[in-house]
Amino acid sequence: GFKAVIFDLDGVITDTAHYHYLAWKALAESEGVHFDHAFNENLKGVDRMGSLNLILAGSPKSYTMEEKLALADRKNRQYVELIATMSAADLLPGALDALAAVRAAGLKIGLASVSKNAFTVLDRLGIRDRFDYVVDAALIANSKPHPEIFLNAAASLGVAPEDCLGVEDAVAGVASIKSAGMYALGIGSPEVLTQADRVIPSLSEFRLEDY
Ligand code: BG6
Ligand code: MG
Repeated sequence: GFKAVIFDLDGVITDTAHYHYLAWKALAESEGVHFDHAFNENLKGVDRMGSLNLILAGSPKSYTMEEKLALADRKNRQYVELIATMSAADLLPGALDALAAVRAAGLKIGLASVSKNAFTVLDRLGIRDRFDYVVDAALIANSKPHPEIFLNAAASLGVAPEDCLGVEDAVAGVASIKSAGMYALGIGSPEVLTQADRVIPSLSEFRLEDY
């Protein structure tokens, strides 16, 4: 059996993935770049500047670092506004039960989100104290799909990567878990999360004994 479960946040525990989508879409369209759900899949799990660079690659303009930082800041201000009214009602179905089941089984619980807003979101949801360790995204040099963030979580929990189960909704996130040498449970569709060891539609279907 596993000794720890490491969860992603956005799109797994709460539907902030939709807020990121809305804020990036507004930003992309203001720069004349077409933006849809298919393109957004490439941004899930990718950090703020990485996402911006992927969007701006679709623009004929070239941007200075200063302009890029201003655009990233504008997107973040809209995102922060969108999450300001979140509460425990915004937990996705099955999220609390999954956290409780992992706790009851005596496993460690980690959170691995590249979002610099993760602590704010956890506080709004009222679940920060349910995690033994939450990665501070500001200390992570390499965004998903690099394994750094999941390896950092495992090391901080004192658990070997092969004893960890990672839970992710993003293609880049599943790739991060797999290159960290962990078991990857995908949340979403198997057609999208092809690298995952197992895919379930939502945490409502989370059964620790199945993996
Ligand atoms: C990830 C999301 O969790 O965090 C991405 O999947 C987002 O969509 C990234 O871009 C960075 O978030 P933030 O809050 O630091 O801009
Ligand atoms: Mg996610």
